[in-house]
Amino acid sequence: QKNVGILAIEIYFPPTCIQQEVLEAHDGASKGKYTIGLGQDCMGFCTEVEDVISMSLTAVTSLLEKYAVDPKQVGRLEVGSETVIDKSKSIKTFLMQIFEKCGNTDIEGVDSTNACYGGTAALFNCVNWVESSSWDGRYGLVVCTDSAVYAEGPARPTGGAAAIAMLIGPNAPIVFESKIRASHMAHVYDFYKPILDSEYPVVDGKLSQTCYLMALDACYKSLCNKYEKLEGKQFSIADAAYFVFHSPYNKLVQKSFARLLFNDFLRNACSIDKSAKEKLAPFLSLSGDESYQSRDLEKTSQQVAKPFYNEKVQPTTLIPKQVGNMYTASLYAAFASLLHNKHNTLAGQRVMLFSYGSGSTATMFSLKLNEGQHPFSLSNIASAMNVAEKLKSRHELVPEKFVEIMQLMEHRYGAKDFVTSKDCSLLAPGTYYLTEVDSKYRRFYAKK
Ligand code: ACO
Repeated sequence: QKNVGILAIEIYFPPTCIQQEVLEAHDGASKGKYTIGLGQDCMGFCTEVEDVISMSLTAVTSLLEKYAVDPKQVGRLEVGSETVIDKSKSIKTFLMQIFEKCGNTDIEGVDSTNACYGGTAALFNCVNWVESSSWDGRYGLVVCTDSAVYAEGPARPTGGAAAIAMLIGPNAPIVFESKIRASHMAHVYDFYKPILDSEYPVVDGKLSQTCYLMALDACYKSLCNKYEKLEGKQFSIADAAYFVFHSPYNKLVQKSFARLLFNDFLRNACSIDKSAKEKLAPFLSLSGDESYQSRDLEKTSQQVAKPFYNEKVQPTTLIPKQVGNMYTASLYAAFASLLHNKHNTLAGQRVMLFSYGSGSTATMFSLKLNEGQHPFSLSNIASAMNVAEKLKSRHELVPEKFVEIMQLMEHRYGAKDFVTSKDCSLLAPGTYYLTEVDSKYRRFYAKK
């Protein structure tokens, strides 16, 4: 099969959100901590009528409708999520309701879980399937769905929620350059969810930042080595038009890109000009460990990287800054932001993606874009996602209401025998919502 990749993308995020500036004041944090310090504008969250299952039902139904894909044409469905609703029954099986109705139960795939990385694992599985001898000619479908919520404290403003559906097949406008790919996987306790009756993670914020940056360095180094063997020339940030990062909060994305530039400097790559070399020279002698601790290096490399960041990263940051960390969906929401902002000029360009899941698992990989053919074209994907309208039609809730909803959700997590308010007044038509969890923990959904 030629040009296997992403044919279409749909994104759904809840219509309910809170401004970071407002949350900051409510939490008693110093002014600017969430907006400038973390680099976040707004945070989306599920109310009691939405969850990862309803969001993914909405995203999948909407994608199939917008692209007139017959549900019988889907042969593999993979879900990435770290939001555990059931320890055995996969989210994929809930989505089978859409396909069973049409008489299609012949669909491979289940859920993949490892923090924010599950979506990437699901995506690779689908692409590999289409490229393999098991492929039966039908589409693959990948769903990334998460609700990121944290206990009260410094991590709370780094929540978010969304579901993304991606249709996979040959002759795609977004093609995998599968040889240009490198992973770094290790055993660390930076962020994990050992408390099975709580939705909240146990998180060592500072350690998770360092683990993320170390995984980024390792992937980039390995990818550069592989590229050099393959192409006989050096790889640098100049070799890709855009860099898309898993985005827990924007400040970490800024630091990550600066880190790539520092790697280029250490490798004496052509992307680093004379004045940048002079500015970074004092950091040449730092050991690896020291380089993660150095505030001066962080500041200097971010300053040197700024013009490149504006060009190669800024267009990818819209949805993550507006919705927050969407865990498995975060990287693909950043990529969706790029399509939204730049779909007219992306044909022929290479885009690098970095996926990180705590614990930890990480991959850097390359996509090559072409305009594609309607309806599977870059411009149609951008208009079908309708990002601007979705962001504009959200409802900002006050912090008291947000806190009240978080408390209700704490009680509801893992609970049985309740009906929700069924209040779907804020939801757009076509959105699925949770109506009831019965005495046997069975969940029921309706469509607005
Ligand atoms: N104005 C401007 N900037 C400010 C202000 C202010 N008033 N106050 C603080 N800042 C800056 C700080 O200097 C810091 O920026 P820097 O890192 O460039 O120095 C930033 O705001 C954050 O402040 P901290 O004191 O470091 O924040 P804190 O430790 O309270 O929490 C953290 C931040 C650790 C990211 C927390 O939100 C968290 O644990 N989040 C979840 C973990 C996470 O997302 N990890 C990322 C990878 S793993 C994953 O994806 C889940």
